Amino acid sequence: MNPRSPLLNVMTRAVDKAARALKRDFGEVQQLQVSTKGPSDFVSNADLKSERILREELAKARPGFGFLAEESGASAGSDTEHRWLIDPLDGTTNFLHGLPHFAISVALEKSGEVIAGVIYDPIKDEMFVAEKGGGAFLNDRRLRVSARRSLGESLLATGIPFRGHGQPADFAHQLDFAMRETAGVRRFGAAALDLAYVAAGRYEGFWEEGLSPWDVGAGILLVREAGGFVSDLKGGQSMLHGGSILASNGLLHAPLQAALKPH
Ligand code: IPD
Ligand code: CA
Ligand code: CA
Repeated sequence: MNPRSPLLNVMTRAVDKAARALKRDFGEVQQLQVSTKGPSDFVSNADLKSERILREELAKARPGFGFLAEESGASAGSDTEHRWLIDPLDGTTNFLHGLPHFAISVALEKSGEVIAGVIYDPIKDEMFVAEKGGGAFLNDRRLRVSARRSLGESLLATGIPFRGHGQPADFAHQLDFAMRETAGVRRFGAAALDLAYVAAGRYEGFWEEGLSPWDVGAGILLVREAGGFVSDLKGGQSMLHGGSILASNGLLHAPLQAALKPH
């Protein structure tokens, strides 16, 4: 089955081109780890380059659409209905440290709702795509969230607060629950991939606070199209712009939300 619509083709082509540049730069970064200056400037250039390629390619294919991109911010297009949400490098800290776990995330909003999403991990060559009503796919294989119903068997992912991000006190309560009640918690460091992995049934759930629309746009759609459920941590639907998110296989959403909601 070929799940690629013309729209998803446009998105995956742009993502592929940006990913080739990122992958080359990641090779360089690994060399730079041992230099005294460190690779920070190099990495922010790689990030900017990826965003430039994505913007150029998407604007060529769909002139007029607006943008909300992590590095260059918001810019309105002549078409006020459609807007791209772009994270040109999700997992920057991993990338900077030579850890091979990062991604590009691109989502398309129509009148404020995400209707298509692509998340690509260039190291593992895993392309996650979803279009509203059309299902979620990993390299053309249909995705389904996990069927586990028991909290005790569930594996969760999260983002641990770090300097200037998130609420350490809330997080300590959440982690206390997860450590006692679940099979384990992972912190891989790329929120877009965390969401894609919930869609792929690898995790039963993922939660994090302090995220932005470009981190979660594509992932929200992937989880929904794979049969899962997404909310904010209070159980509402403000997760695209509100900063907090809980994504799950649906079956475990209520107990997870009750335990993880902010104090
Ligand atoms: C970050 C990653 C990380 C999450 C941070 C995000 P960035 O995105 O997704 O997993 O914990 O909150 O900001 O900065 O690497 O694009
Ligand atoms: Ca990000
Ligand atoms: Ca980023």
